Amino acid sequence: MPSVSVMTSKIALVTGATQGLGLALVEGLAQRLTPADTVYLTGRDIDRVNQAVAALPGGGARVRGEILDVARPEAVDRLAAQLADRHGGVDIVFNNAVMRVGPDDDPRAIVHAYTEVNNFGTTRVLRAFAPLLRDDGRLIVVASALGTLHHLAPVLHDRFARPRTLAEVDEQVAAWRDAVADGSARAGAWPGFVNIPSKIGQVAAVRALAHQRREQDLGRGILLAAVCPGMMNTPTSALWWDVSDAPTPAQAAGALLDLAFDPADPEHYGQLVRYGEVLPWTPEPTAV
Ligand SMILES: NC(=O)c1ccc[n+]([C@@H]2O[C@H](COP(=O)([O-])OP(=O)(O)OC[C@H]3O[C@@H](n4cnc5c(N)ncnc54)[C@H](OP(=O)(O)O)[C@@H]3O)[C@@H](O)[C@H]2O)c1
Repeated sequence: MPSVSVMTSKIALVTGATQGLGLALVEGLAQRLTPADTVYLTGRDIDRVNQAVAALPGGGARVRGEILDVARPEAVDRLAAQLADRHGGVDIVFNNAVMRVGPDDDPRAIVHAYTEVNNFGTTRVLRAFAPLLRDDGRLIVVASALGTLHHLAPVLHDRFARPRTLAEVDEQVAAWRDAVADGSARAGAWPGFVNIPSKIGQVAAVRALAHQRREQDLGRGILLAAVCPGMMNTPTSALWWDVSDAPTPAQAAGALLDLAFDPADPEHYGQLVRYGEVLPWTPEPTAV
């Protein structure tokens, strides 16, 4: 009997996709995929999810809205289980959600909620979705150029350079969170801008998981990476900087979508990538 090759439809998912970069990623994924494929536009509020789906131009892949508050552990696991049941696996996941904070926010007051979304939300998504990745899959964490050890006092480097498991990264993030919350971080070497340790924690999480999965993933064409979209004009960045001349989310999404659709480059595996180039993790580059 002649062998028949079965084309599996592709499944993509974006967290925090009701606006900004997440929404642009959904739109770009839908355009680059086919009507046989499905892109999950997820967010924490069902009305905003539905509005975002309804506002998309249409064409390309089917876009399906799903509620996903990444700060709720059971919600991440539940959606991963649903997708496993429905589709048997996933092909592209962008972990993009971020809690918006501004210069007037007191870090001590917001740090619990902030880490719950940006850091523990990220490790939840990595834990829940990495096992579902099909061959040639992509699991991409949207971080930032601030997510390297260059931005941290050397005395703190080991905290994020040493962890080899997601649990160890979570432990370090929790220790930093607690130091911010009780005010001791201000007296120590921690940067005052909470985005810096948070983004370093995200990249450390990618590196820890990559340390465990590298060989297997590379053999299956899977890419696990962190990515820096560069400065964009979104309400989040506008709280801090004049971003009126910065690229739009749709413009910034292009390089991220290339990572999802171009053949996986082993050099990118486990690294922080900006515009297709690896950003060194330390002043002296180290292997994952
Ligand atoms: N903007 C920049 O210049 C810049 C630069 C470097 C890196 N980045 C990174 O790029 C990513 C996107 O940034 P952005 O500027 O596009 O942000 P944004 O416009 O503020 O969008 C953030 C998204 O995250 C969602 N979100 C917030 N809390 C959530 C939760 N608990 N569960 C699920 N979703 C949640 C928001 O949903 P709601 O609509 O419900 O609020 C929104 O859809 C972030 O990881 C950010 O750190 C941005």
